[in-house]
Amino acid sequence: MPVPYEKHKNYFMKIKVKSNYRCQSCGSVSPKWMGKCPDCGEWNTLVEEKESLSAGHPGRRLTEFSSSVTRLSQVKSEDFQRHITGIGEFDRILGGGVCAGSMVLLGGSPGIGKSTLMLQAAHRLAKGKDLVLYVSGEESLSQVKDRANRLQIKNEALLLLSETNLEKILEVVQQNKPKFFVLDSIQTVYKADLSGAPGSVGQIRECTAELLHLAKGLGITVFLLGHVTKEGDLAGPRVLEHIVDTVLYFETERQQVHRILRVFKNRFGPTNEIGVFEMTGQGLQEVSNPSVFFLGDHVNGLPPGTAALAAMEGTRPLLVEVQALVSRTLFGMPRRQMTGVDYNRAMILMAVLDKRCGFHLESQDVYVNITGGLQVREPAADLGIAAAMAGAYSEKAGQGKILWLGEVGLSGELRAVAQVSERLQEAGKLGFQKAIIPRMSQKGLRIPSGMEVQAVTTLLDALEKGGLKGF
Ligand SMILES: Nc1ncnc2c1ncn2[C@@H]1O[C@H](COP(=O)(O)OP(=O)(O)OP(=O)(O)O)[C@@H](O)[C@H]1O
Ligand SMILES: [Mg+2]
Repeated sequence: MPVPYEKHKNYFMKIKVKSNYRCQSCGSVSPKWMGKCPDCGEWNTLVEEKESLSAGHPGRRLTEFSSSVTRLSQVKSEDFQRHITGIGEFDRILGGGVCAGSMVLLGGSPGIGKSTLMLQAAHRLAKGKDLVLYVSGEESLSQVKDRANRLQIKNEALLLLSETNLEKILEVVQQNKPKFFVLDSIQTVYKADLSGAPGSVGQIRECTAELLHLAKGLGITVFLLGHVTKEGDLAGPRVLEHIVDTVLYFETERQQVHRILRVFKNRFGPTNEIGVFEMTGQGLQEVSNPSVFFLGDHVNGLPPGTAALAAMEGTRPLLVEVQALVSRTLFGMPRRQMTGVDYNRAMILMAVLDKRCGFHLESQDVYVNITGGLQVREPAADLGIAAAMAGAYSEKAGQGKILWLGEVGLSGELRAVAQVSERLQEAGKLGFQKAIIPRMSQKGLRIPSGMEVQAVTTLLDALEKGGLKGF
């Protein structure tokens, strides 16, 4: 005889509440397992979460903010206090220092230098009464000490703890009342009353909620370190991104000594800013003039197949070198390999070079690379990429040190780009004598002294002015 549902309704209800499936990509919850997440459409991302909380538990709220309805004009504005670490690149990308009481997530792939950067920042923040509690759930105290020795860090205001149980960590925080709190990493801590393993989405979410209460309640500034895979798609940090105030990602290309710290989200400052660091035996050193770093040492001009462009990274222009190699295809299908530039964009530029400028690339292998491992995605880089490919094809070098700036349209026209003056100033500082820009970007231009600016309307015109066409 089947059990009547009505009679055992409560039992069935309880089972339903206890087991959920959470998407590791977008964090949405489903009562049953599915191959594809109905919210974000990602495949195989639903992971079972067993909650030991009793049925009917309302769920933990992420914030405790509540207020009565107030007119905007009557709300008192607050000045957020900022703490300066003295690590210029770190302070700058945060919008001028770390905001007091904020929660910052630093994500990055394994071994990139998250703990190193955080220990260096913690050392700078720990002064006198400003205690910093650095909790490591991944390394023992002696391992952290070993790193501190390597970084030549000695600091009495820096408290260390090796612990993974969140309750114990919170107890220590309550006792010591530090001004700054670092958790390395959020994937290693757990709440004992949840049955999910450390690092599961449920654990990460709950632990972060606890820490958020701590940050906002006691006014402690919290730094969370988190792991992401190369694709940046690990569950934890993705769910966390919504909760925290600021998200920083530490990136690098394999084998590169420099590291790029990128602001992905910031409630207290601009996003898309980058900070550049170099990994050395003594820790991370900031690279205060990254344009020199990315541009290479070209005194008289750039060789054939190389062009300089100025990419805006947040509010800062960054001069980078784009290199192209064009060689005859040995097999039937020409190869196209793009590193640091958008593949589809490069395909369009090749088609425009072929159709509008007479560079026949259909039987050529084309390789494009942005040096230094930087990713350049903005349309203003089009002209630089096209100039590098044209130079590689014709084996011609541009006349002098030229900065190429402009978006290339499908009919071969050059379209206006933003913040040209800032980009020209940066090029001027690095000794560029010439810049080729779209005519439409000429208005209100501030030209650095000694620089010749040529405003053109088409890609063909630009290549001729730069000495790359006319073979
Ligand atoms: N003696 C050294 N000299 C130069 N670089 C070193 C030295 N020791 C470590 N490093 C660099 O530091 C990196 C490890 O830094 P760190 O432990 O801060 O990374 P992490 O992102 O915290 O790693 P994990 O994901 O394992 O926690 C190494 O990949 C290496 O590049
Ligand atoms: Mg680490």
